[in-house]
Amino acid sequence: MSNKAWGGRFDEELDAIAARFSASVDVDGRLWEQDIDSSIAHVRMLAGQKIVSTEDAEQVVAGLETIRASIERGEFEWDADKEDVHMNIEAALTKAIGEAGGRLHTARSRNDQVATDMRLWTRQACHSIAGDIDALLAVLVDKAEAHIDFLMPGYTHLQRAQPTRLAHHLLAWVEMLERDRSRVLDAAKRMNESPLGSAALAGTTFPIDRAATAEALGFDRPMQNSLDAVGDRDFLLEAVSALAICSVHLSRVAEELVLWSSQEFGFVQMSDTFTTGSSIMPQKKNPDMPELVRGKTGRVVGSLVNLMVMLKGLPLAYNRDLQEDKAPVFEAFDTVHDCLAVLAGAIGSASFDKARMADALQAGFLDATEVADWLAARGVPFREAHHVAGKLVHQAHQLGKKLAELPLETYQQAHASFDATIFDALDMETAVERRDVLGGPARKRVTKAIEELRGRLEARRGS
Ligand code: ARG
Repeated sequence: MSNKAWGGRFDEELDAIAARFSASVDVDGRLWEQDIDSSIAHVRMLAGQKIVSTEDAEQVVAGLETIRASIERGEFEWDADKEDVHMNIEAALTKAIGEAGGRLHTARSRNDQVATDMRLWTRQACHSIAGDIDALLAVLVDKAEAHIDFLMPGYTHLQRAQPTRLAHHLLAWVEMLERDRSRVLDAAKRMNESPLGSAALAGTTFPIDRAATAEALGFDRPMQNSLDAVGDRDFLLEAVSALAICSVHLSRVAEELVLWSSQEFGFVQMSDTFTTGSSIMPQKKNPDMPELVRGKTGRVVGSLVNLMVMLKGLPLAYNRDLQEDKAPVFEAFDTVHDCLAVLAGAIGSASFDKARMADALQAGFLDATEVADWLAARGVPFREAHHVAGKLVHQAHQLGKKLAELPLETYQQAHASFDATIFDALDMETAVERRDVLGGPARKRVTKAIEELRGRLEARRGS
């Protein structure tokens, strides 16, 4: 932007390095659609309030629509000398329609303009992420349903702990992502207030109608305080916090896919379409996609830290520091969008290995809890039952046997209450089916959870 364009205040041009340093259009150019929408709402309101003439307002709207079309066609010439998206569009408008273009900025400042644009952009980005999450959820629910018969070890401390179902595990991911989705939408709800009309910081002397612009832009209401409206970016902290939590979840999912696709686990085979080879080891098929999802978490969490630090200690109201909000917000949304899409593809095309999971259930004494529960169900205090089961595990371990391979006498030596029905309890299918509690892995519980989730996903698709 030429300093001359700011009016009579300047004798000299901005230094070249200062100009490059402060220009933001390469980043905020992405707000063009919101910028045009908010300008149209503003100028229509100005005409409605008789602050500008209807003819001028119509010319401005037509001019902005022409600019919209030229941006859509990729023909608009962005100019870093014009600093940011707002100045680029306004300059093009004035060039196209002349004097009337200069009236658009009446009763407005770039400070309320950019705050409005960012709220509009982020609101729609939150809704779009919610849709991306739904797409991944649909894949997970399908996989859960298709693999309802697959038993697998559940882990604590990454040690085999108790038997469960693959579907139960996949539905745990679903629950994590459901909460992420609701957090993102919650942020979208709270940010849905209009800063427009706050002008530079203290409102305007013109008789504007803030409720009209708020309504035209789909906001719930105008923001109550002009200093707050232009000076805070907590709505971005909230949205990016929700994304950061989501990407931590995605990273955990990704980590399990990496582990499960290792030779050591062998629970899952990623498809060729979502794996890569090695340039040196011909046998390799690497789970790069989940690794990258895991790795990209740093970008999203980093974006949150970036925003927090940028905002901390800023005095009210607008400060140019706030211009730095855009890159981390765009980066966080872009990254989470890609990660969700990649995981949906990778999981959707992966195949799970029933036999490997069943094999893993055989070693590791996953039935030890069954032994303790069997005794406790017959009146033995759980602590004592736990001790007895532990002793039996110890004995079996020393003999190189499984619990089911110990003779009944050994059980009865450990505790007089044992009878032959203990061996039924040691069957893995039975062990899973007996976990017939809300939230547990018994088939009918998991099937019900799948049905409920399907209903919810369908209702959302319909709405
Ligand atoms: N590009 C600026 C930003 O994103 C727009 C607001 C400029 N306001 C100002 N007072 N210099 O923050």
